[in-house]
Amino acid sequence: MHISTALAVLLSAAAPTACAAAAASHADCSPGSKPLPFPAGELSKDQFTAKGRRYRVHLPQGYDPTRRAPVILSYHGAHGTIEKQAALDGLTDPSRNRDYIVVYLQALVPEGASDPTKTEWQVAPGAAQHTDDLGFTADVVAALEARLCVDPRRLYATGKSQGGGFVGQVLACDGGGDDDDASARGLARRFAAFAPVAGAYYLQDTPRRDQCEPTNRVAIPCGARRRRRAGKGERSDAANATAPILAFHGGADKTIPYRGTWRRATGSCLPDIRHWARQWVSSSASSSSSTTTRGEDHNGVHGPPTEKNTTIPGSRHGVRSAWGAGKEEGRVVLVYAGDDIGHDWPSTAENADNKGGPRAAFNASDEIVEWFGKWQLGS
Ligand SMILES: *[C@@H]1O[C@H](CO)[C@@H](O)[C@H](O)[C@H]1NC(C)=O
Ligand SMILES: *[C@@H]1O[C@H](CO)[C@@H](O)[C@H](O)[C@H]1NC(C)=O
Ligand SMILES: *[C@@H]1O[C@H](CO)[C@@H](O)[C@H](O)[C@H]1NC(C)=O
Repeated sequence: MHISTALAVLLSAAAPTACAAAAASHADCSPGSKPLPFPAGELSKDQFTAKGRRYRVHLPQGYDPTRRAPVILSYHGAHGTIEKQAALDGLTDPSRNRDYIVVYLQALVPEGASDPTKTEWQVAPGAAQHTDDLGFTADVVAALEARLCVDPRRLYATGKSQGGGFVGQVLACDGGGDDDDASARGLARRFAAFAPVAGAYYLQDTPRRDQCEPTNRVAIPCGARRRRRAGKGERSDAANATAPILAFHGGADKTIPYRGTWRRATGSCLPDIRHWARQWVSSSASSSSSTTTRGEDHNGVHGPPTEKNTTIPGSRHGVRSAWGAGKEEGRVVLVYAGDDIGHDWPSTAENADNKGGPRAAFNASDEIVEWFGKWQLGS
């Protein structure tokens, strides 16, 4: 054990954690200000927020408590766990990630549920009545900032299925827009980019089939709520920018169909994925309809919402669609993983999702890490 590590352990043992956390300012990364709360290079023991929500943290091997590190929050799928998600996304693998702190969050089982494994996120139909995952996320971010040296401009979120739905339809939409939406915490603006995988982008308030179908026309409420007033000292066009989002989906996804579906049992609507992704650029599309000047700033996506397709070699009709031009190119990306890819975390290697079935021609996790590296707040 290094002497500094031993010292850190001694120090943290001597001071009650709550006290140490309160003493260390969030912004303070001076030597000794934030003793390592858990060993680097492995998943931490269970951590709990004040409200008792569970999460685990992976510090990269070379984590330096005096250097600001980027952070990825990862949300598991419905009925999932932290441990399953960590095995599935492989984001802690040092061969793909040497820089990011990765944090796994645990969803709750609704009270009174007959199945104790039935965890769900605040995006599933009815879940918002019993779970506050935005609050959970805010608490985790605050705890991380108090105990670790994190870069507030480089906070990212990813997730699978319902976890992806939470990221792409709830977190990414939390006060990214409407100034009058008092219920929003504005968490969306604290994240630099989002990367949902096989996301369940449930639309609430669609109890009737005709409100949902056709699924490629249904209104996506988040799209209209992304604009906002600039914060203090913030460039107005930065405030108005579309949050960068990279979404993955397979064409053979039977759980969350690529073409969307209406679910009678829950009176819920799953939108067509391509239509959903396009909503991230459509606020610029609507504002650009009045002016066709190329290169003008349209809410972060410059110029008309140009679409650029790139085929994915080795896949069955897999294609990456990127929207935005110039500096904003690739701010919104949809990766259609292929006609044969199911409800999977795309990977060329076997994982819990693709076991026994076709594998993707690329690793979603490698793309996510690389793509997150392009974005930070205030740029
Ligand atoms: C953001 O865009 C909207 C709609 O285009 C516009 O009304 C608003 O003034 C813009 N806000 C800022 C801060 O630029
Ligand atoms: C891009 O690919 C999608 C899906 O295959 C297709 O629907 C769309 O028309 C393509 N766009 C362009 C500009 O080629
Ligand atoms: C995908 O990741 C696995 C490790 O999980 C690795 O063995 C494989 O080479 C990667 N595939 C590509 C195309 O990089």
